[in-house]
Amino acid sequence: MSARSSLLHVKAAASLSVPELLTSRTMSDNERTFIAIKPDGVQRGLIGDVIKRFEQKGFKLVGMKLLQASQELLNKHYADLSSRPFFPSLIAYMSSGPVVAMVWEGKGAVKTGRVMLGATDPAESAPGTIRGDFCIQVGKNVIHGSDSVESATQEISLWFTEDELVTYKSCAFDWLYN
Ligand code: RTP
Ligand code: MG
Repeated sequence: MSARSSLLHVKAAASLSVPELLTSRTMSDNERTFIAIKPDGVQRGLIGDVIKRFEQKGFKLVGMKLLQASQELLNKHYADLSSRPFFPSLIAYMSSGPVVAMVWEGKGAVKTGRVMLGATDPAESAPGTIRGDFCIQVGKNVIHGSDSVESATQEISLWFTEDELVTYKSCAFDWLYN
């Protein structure tokens, strides 16, 4: 680590509260993303496989629940797509069964999470990605992931209350970050 980046770490740490210091060294280590296993992923028994990938990568689970999403929630979640022709079928798909809503935390969680998901259309998703390995069509593409830090913040507050998210230090933290 350079002297300058070391100094930046010290400055960042100085601005953190004690609970924050216990859980992270820098602000970017606790970036959060919203990940949801869609109804097809739940029905096809892929919950464990998806969770395993995020755990193995090193991200930390800070919130999770199984729920039947309401039309109101889904309309808000996909509001930016409301004018698209596939919007009604998207809402029908997302409300066709329970979804697993999760918040995963770690450095670059939003961007890396999207890479782990693969392209929106599974036909374009690289092998090794979740969509590349587990599905075939865009209308049944198994998983959602926030596409930016701003969307993640908005989606997490839409799907979770503050007290449903848990702040804790993972015992793996010191083995994942320098
Ligand atoms: P998501 O929000 O679910 O993570 O997916 P994404 O960012 O990769 O793609 P987005 O453009 O946000 O689309 C949201 C979901 O809508 C369905 N879709 N269907 N029939 C179609 O052409 C079409 N295009 C998109 C997919 O389920 C997609 O994930
Ligand atoms: Mg999207």
